[in-house]
Amino acid sequence: MDEITFKSDTVLSDVHLYTPNQRHLMVRLNGMGQPVFLSQFKLLWNQDCDADSGAEGGDHRSHRADPAEVTSPTGSPPGSGCSSEGADATCQEGVGAQLDEDGDLDVVRRPQAASASEPSGPPRDKVHPMILSQEEDDVLGDEARESSARDVIKIEHTMATPLEDVGKQVWRGALLLADYILFRQDLFQGRTVLELGAGTGLASIIAATVARTVYCTDVGADLLAMCQRNIALNSHLTATGGGVVKVKELDWLKDDLCTDPEVPFSWSEEDVSDLYGHTTVLLAAEVFYDDDLTDAVFKTLSRLAHRLKNACTAVLSVEKRLNFTLRHLDVTCEAYDHFRSCLQRLEKLADGRLRFSVEPVDASFPQHLVYERIQQLELWKVFVEPVTGPVASASTAS
Ligand SMILES: C[S@@+](CC[C@H](N)C(=O)[O-])C[C@H]1O[C@@H](n2cnc3c(N)ncnc32)[C@H](O)[C@@H]1O
Repeated sequence: MDEITFKSDTVLSDVHLYTPNQRHLMVRLNGMGQPVFLSQFKLLWNQDCDADSGAEGGDHRSHRADPAEVTSPTGSPPGSGCSSEGADATCQEGVGAQLDEDGDLDVVRRPQAASASEPSGPPRDKVHPMILSQEEDDVLGDEARESSARDVIKIEHTMATPLEDVGKQVWRGALLLADYILFRQDLFQGRTVLELGAGTGLASIIAATVARTVYCTDVGADLLAMCQRNIALNSHLTATGGGVVKVKELDWLKDDLCTDPEVPFSWSEEDVSDLYGHTTVLLAAEVFYDDDLTDAVFKTLSRLAHRLKNACTAVLSVEKRLNFTLRHLDVTCEAYDHFRSCLQRLEKLADGRLRFSVEPVDASFPQHLVYERIQQLELWKVFVEPVTGPVASASTAS
């Protein structure tokens, strides 16, 4: 497949945006007839994540994409009208918007990087997952293949999708969350973990390299089947730590877990009791792009927290996506603002049983996966503890 055409009503994750076309490996069509690709995300265990890897080293937040590179509507993240990078370059770095004599926005483009003239690879400051083609895999010797298996997460995903299928792509927030899990393995060691809106399952797979059980949840049989395949593709990673990933349906718009054995990815009574009896860590990456869904996620978090036997900590990743809106005639980040207001509301919740406290996580921890850790990528923790009763913080990840 040489050329991939994106329709204007589709969205494409920045993670897949700069992947060179010739290195796509289409493996099958999914149940919706969408082409499925196999990407191999390299885990940079003992490497300095610097220029060679495609990710910025040192100050991992310093990477800035060229604003001229990210203006395609298909390249915009879910629900956004323009990319955060583009807005970042014009609005966040003190450059200030420049207007022409009529008051129109004058877009100042940076000069093309010298490497942009090289057709064989992506320009210098574009990063993408390391995707090995079938042929390249075959050329590897046994030793290299064995070591690459330990250092690689294989993820089946689609490329551009309509908004309702965004979970079939990998989003930067999942990679940030995965990096945090690798950085703070102590918080996940031997735990029972629940991921909400897991999509392709990448963060759940990383969590299962240290956790005891990971409930990897989302909605839609097609997506969950893809997620299940990804869990199987990476059993070599999770098997070493003995972690188990269970793919289950958990719809934020429903009050209860589906326990009908006839329904694919439903919950057994044992799973439900294990979930409520043992879960101490909740995860969610990139699920705050639509206000109604954000409300539903927070409602789900609160409902689960009230049903869990133990105190718990939720680790949430979010990308602050900046959009120019006609309504405000300004750059805003409404979905992010709504997320922050939900966090504030949660902290004020006083039902006499649970106390929620919120804390931002400094995202300067090491980067083991290749992606742009832009400044707008954030990680937040929500600590949930009983108001009275035995001090539960000892069993809470902090
Ligand atoms: C932008 S994707 C993020 C996927 C993954 N966490 C990642 O970062 O790569 C948002 C996810 O939320 C899920 N989602 C949307 N509505 C949902 C609902 N009502 N209940 C559960 N999950 C939902 C989608 O299916 C999708 O997987």
